[in-house]
Amino acid sequence: MIPESFIQELLLRIDIVDLIDGYVPLKKAGANYVACCPFHNEKTPSFTVSSSKQFYHCFGCGAHGTAIGFLMEYSGIGFVDALKELANRAGVPIPQEEERARRDKRELPDLAGIMAAAARYYYKQMTCSERAIAYLKSRGLQGDIVKKFGIGYAPDKWRNLDGAFEDYADPALQAAGLVIRNEQGRFYDRFRDRIMFPIINQKGEVIAFGGRILDGGEPKYLNSPETPLFEKGREVYGLPQARAALREKNTVIVVEGYMDVIALSQHGVGNAVATLGTATTLNHVQKLFRQAGRVVFCFDGDGAGRKAAWKALENSLEALPEQKSIGFVFLPDPEDPDSFIRAHGKEAFERLIAQATPLSEFLLRELASHSDMGSAEGRAALVSKANPLLNRLRSPLLRLQIVKRLAETSGFSTQEIERLCGLRPIVRPSPPKAPRRAYSVWRRLLRLLLQKPELAHRLPPELLDGVSPDLPEEARATKRLHETILAIAQTIPSYAMLLEKSRGDGSEPVLREIAAELMEIPLVEEDIETEFAGVVECLTEAGRKRDFETLQKKVARLGIAGLTSEEKEDYLMLISRKNDRKL
Ligand code: UTP
Ligand code: MN
Repeated sequence: MIPESFIQELLLRIDIVDLIDGYVPLKKAGANYVACCPFHNEKTPSFTVSSSKQFYHCFGCGAHGTAIGFLMEYSGIGFVDALKELANRAGVPIPQEEERARRDKRELPDLAGIMAAAARYYYKQMTCSERAIAYLKSRGLQGDIVKKFGIGYAPDKWRNLDGAFEDYADPALQAAGLVIRNEQGRFYDRFRDRIMFPIINQKGEVIAFGGRILDGGEPKYLNSPETPLFEKGREVYGLPQARAALREKNTVIVVEGYMDVIALSQHGVGNAVATLGTATTLNHVQKLFRQAGRVVFCFDGDGAGRKAAWKALENSLEALPEQKSIGFVFLPDPEDPDSFIRAHGKEAFERLIAQATPLSEFLLRELASHSDMGSAEGRAALVSKANPLLNRLRSPLLRLQIVKRLAETSGFSTQEIERLCGLRPIVRPSPPKAPRRAYSVWRRLLRLLLQKPELAHRLPPELLDGVSPDLPEEARATKRLHETILAIAQTIPSYAMLLEKSRGDGSEPVLREIAAELMEIPLVEEDIETEFAGVVECLTEAGRKRDFETLQKKVARLGIAGLTSEEKEDYLMLISRKNDRKL
């Protein structure tokens, strides 16, 4: 666990404006900074970053969060990695406990450092090897591309890495998947006489290698094993190199092989990435949709390619948001993207991408090709095969479109299909616009405390005494937020500090929602005092009501004589107040 105090300290040191500006150039606009949103496609800037609140919010797509949240979203990395990245920038060391915990998990040998050193070594060896250079040339690659992808060469020796590391027997080299220990306890390199493709993650770390044999031997590609750095179903090849092109084209092309990515780049198609010899996973697709609005799978035209495409389709349905799209391209057998672009050039390839088969069409065509459309049974089978797929879709429009097309081919009506497949309306997150009018008192207070945390110090703490676990989340969130603000008394906390304290607990969603709301429509400064007084009055009244009920119960049990004199006084006061109000 990373201590909370560290997270707060980090948030104090990092300025979200500087951070985001490094990724998305910001322009000053009034009190805030704006840019075109990196999380959706837009022409006019609605992405807003507030320096005082240390919070970003997009008026267009609703994306919002703290500096930590931004890094996680933008780079597709986890919480701990985002913290590390920020700590790095701020020049603060990650606290000891964390380091120790990591060492216990045996993650600590600096695997990333080892992999980087190995990549440098292999690259150097490539530049000295006529054999490697000749091979790369024969595959049409030029020096700049070889450099861009850091392509290297592992010479034909058993212990190349002896020349790159001081201690060849260091267990860290084995943990990194570079060195293997045989049964006799002897060590040797995993990669020998292979062209080396470093796999680099979004933080720029080399996390694995793919090594290609230069002639016809087996296996053609040898890959790093899974290590603490490298988890196969999550990574794609070529993402950092593709980043600029992805943004520019808002499309990511997914191909099957290392060489496909590299050859496309060599021919000026920079926005391609490859899954690493595995099927496309939901995780892959989610990651890719963070980078671009459109994903086009470009697979070989053979049976294996179609199967891979179908798998990709199945795994994409859940990840496909409303404004994003997926297409499929099948190359004429036996071409792959590498051979195709070399033979037909960039324009021909880009035409294929532009004319990709839409997901709905591929889905229906594929299902229909496995059913007998000539018989009633076959047409019914079509609908039942579509059923699980339709139920996975999160995009209502796309689902409707597919249902309509299914209706045309199957002879059922759209209503019948919806009923047969048990399709319920897809609930969309409500757009952040149009604030709700009737806020609960808790929500009113949450809004006040978030916008002006100083108010917490003026809130009589007994007003929150009645908050119990069975009250709504908004009430519990209020109590927690109040405590949080009081605990960081020395400064006026930003949204970022408050929200990060709630990360992962029940109050996080409601706080995020309100923070986003307030970025769009802040409370008017002049109204805050009146609103605060109103909320205090309302809570005071609720407290009185609670007290009265408690006393009343006691009276019912013990009679008025059962009350202490103080309680009696309260009771009478409350009764008279009650009567006054009724008058
Ligand atoms: P391909 O056999 O299509 O390779 O495998 P390729 O990229 O076209 O390679 P070249 O053009 O012959 O050099 C596609 C991907 O499947 C994985 C690799 O990631 C490869 O890029 N693969 C393939 C392996 O992991 N191991 C293998 O033995 C073969
Ligand atoms: Mn190939």
